[in-house]
Amino acid sequence: MSPLYNIDDALAQRLVADMNHQGHAVLEGAIAPAALQALREYVDAHAARHGKQYFAYHGYQALDGSALAQLGLAAGFRATLARLHELGTGKAAAEPQVFPVLRCVQGGSGQKESNAFHYDATLITMLLPINIPTEGEQRGDLVLFPNSRRVRGNVLFNVIEKALLQNTFSRRLLLACIERGWLKPTLLRIVPGNVYFFWGYRSLHANQPCAPSVRRATALFHYGDPHAGSFTTRLILKLNQRRARRAVARATDTA
Ligand SMILES: [Fe+2]
Repeated sequence: MSPLYNIDDALAQRLVADMNHQGHAVLEGAIAPAALQALREYVDAHAARHGKQYFAYHGYQALDGSALAQLGLAAGFRATLARLHELGTGKAAAEPQVFPVLRCVQGGSGQKESNAFHYDATLITMLLPINIPTEGEQRGDLVLFPNSRRVRGNVLFNVIEKALLQNTFSRRLLLACIERGWLKPTLLRIVPGNVYFFWGYRSLHANQPCAPSVRRATALFHYGDPHAGSFTTRLILKLNQRRARRAVARATDTA
């Protein structure tokens, strides 16, 4: 039985302690080789439809029929994320849904979608690497400023903070500071077969670019919106979905 389902308490406590203290937690060997292979075949089929350019699928409708949608809907997996949420915050998530995303960075358009630093709308992010480049200088490492903010009590403050950070100017400034060594994020080389947990709402993060000729495909599972049900949260989700559609359209134009 995969440890992703109905996690036992000792493991849940270890993961939350790692997320709190080192900024991320790793569950090694969480995805069986056959399951990983099936996910790669799914990505292959869809990558071909997108002219080998960047694409992202947000939510169950876009991922309909995939193993990623099945995992997101599995009660045992939801129970695992719920346990991590409870241990991390002392309370249950207001909404128990898991929100799955597939991101596939490849081709020239993939470079534009890299280094896009942001905070997630949900507290817990689980990253499941599917295809990760193994050669070259830049391999799409996860770049993290772990636990760089608290959960905001006011949703409006959250939105203003995100607007100030998640724009082209701020991202360029941040990148320049990283390149000069003034800011030192955690660089995480992610390995398919493992899964990675971090507090996505609290940790500014992005992926490093990789060469246009290679593919970086990852699944993300989001859980626990601290501002659940607010108009602003629904707006952020809509904007993310629109951004994903625009990126796909751009990629198709250039394919
Ligand atoms: Fe994210």
